[in-house]
Amino acid sequence: MNKLILYCRAGFEKEVAAEIIEKSTALGVFGFTKVVDNSGYVIFECYQNGEADLLAKTLHINQLIFARQLIVVSDLLYDIPLNDRITPILQEYSHIENTINLKRTTTLFVETADTNQAKELLTFCRKFTVPLRQSLKRQSWLNSDDFEYGISLHVFFTKTDCCYVGYSYNANHSPYFMGIPRLKFPVEAPSRSTLKLEEAILTFIPKHEETKRLNENTYAVDLGACPGGWTYQLAKRGVFVYAVDHGKMADSLHETGRIEHCPEDGFKFQPPKRKKIDWLVCDMVEKPSRIAALISKWLVNGWCQETIFNLKLPMKKRYLEVQQCLHKISNDLDKQGLSFIIQAKHLYHDREEITVHIQIK
Ligand SMILES: C[S@@+](CC[C@H](N)C(=O)[O-])C[C@H]1O[C@@H](n2cnc3c(N)ncnc32)[C@H](O)[C@@H]1O
Repeated sequence: MNKLILYCRAGFEKEVAAEIIEKSTALGVFGFTKVVDNSGYVIFECYQNGEADLLAKTLHINQLIFARQLIVVSDLLYDIPLNDRITPILQEYSHIENTINLKRTTTLFVETADTNQAKELLTFCRKFTVPLRQSLKRQSWLNSDDFEYGISLHVFFTKTDCCYVGYSYNANHSPYFMGIPRLKFPVEAPSRSTLKLEEAILTFIPKHEETKRLNENTYAVDLGACPGGWTYQLAKRGVFVYAVDHGKMADSLHETGRIEHCPEDGFKFQPPKRKKIDWLVCDMVEKPSRIAALISKWLVNGWCQETIFNLKLPMKKRYLEVQQCLHKISNDLDKQGLSFIIQAKHLYHDREEITVHIQIK
C-alpha cells in the first residue's frame, strides 16, 4: 500500500493535489497525484515503499486545509464479484498484516465520495458495513478499544464493484464518517451559516477547552453579523457579542440580552473603549487579501486574542490565494514578536471559502 486517498469537497481536487505535493515534499516524501475533476477525492502515489504510511503518521491532518481525510490505500480493486466482495477485501488486508498490526484496529468505515453521483452508493455502503465488519472480526481484527491511538479500516467504493482498501491512524484522522461531521441545524438559529461557526468551534477548539474560552465572561465582535447565525453560536455559549453590520439582526438575538447591534462598517469598527474583547469573528463577503489585512490589524493592535474568520475563494488560483493570505498574517504577527497558533480548514459547511482560526498564545 503506497498510496494515500484524500477526501475533499467536489471541485477542490486541484487544491488538495497542490497541497499534498507541497506538504509531502517538505517532509522529504515525493510522489504524484491522480486528479479527476469533481470526483471528491485525490490519490497521491509515493515513489518509495512505506512512505504513504509515513505520511499517514507524520503529516498532520490539521495541517491539510482542503483534505477532509487521509487514508493509506491499496491499488484499486476492480471487477470484484458482486456475490462475494468480502473475500478480495479480506485478502487485501491479510497482505498488509505483516506491516500493520491489525490487532490494533478499532473501527470500520465503508465510504464513498461526497458527490451527487456517489450518493447512490451510500445506501449500499451502509448495508455492506455489517457483514464486512463481522468477517473482519472473525479474523480477530477490529477488536481493539484503543480509540485514541489505534487504527481504523476504510473501504472506499468508487462503484459497486470497485474499491480502495486502506487504513488511517486514529491519532491523525478525521473521526467522522467520510470526514464529515453531521451537525443538526438548530431551528432557532437565524441562518444556515450558523453551522459554519459551529463546525469551526468543533474543529479548532478542543472540547475540554471550549467553556474555558467561550463563556459568560468573554466578549466578542462579529463583523458582518447579520442576520446572526454566528452571533447565535456565541450568545448561546454565554458570550456577549458586538454584532457589526448595517443589516438587520434577528429579533430572537436581541431578546437574549447578550448582544449589542452596531450598524457600522466592519472595516472601520474598533473595539469599544474600556472593554476587553476576547474574540473576533468575521464572515464578511470581501476580497481575501482585505480580510487578511483586517485580521492582522486586530491581532497586531491587541484588540482580540483569538479569531475565526472566512476567506471567500471565488477565484481560480484558490490555493495560492490562501497561502498568500496566511503568509501575510503570519509575517505581520511574527514582526510584532507575537507567538500564535494558526489553523485553516475547508470545512464541510464551507462552500467556496475556507475557515481560519488564530489564537495568540
Ligand atoms: C455571509 S453574510 C454573514 C452571515 C452571518 N455570519 C450569519 O451567520 O448570519 C455577510 C454579511 O456581511 C455584511 N457586510 C458586508 N460588508 C460589510 C462591511 N463592510 N461592514 C459590515 N458588514 C458587512 C453583509 O451586510 C452581510 O450581512
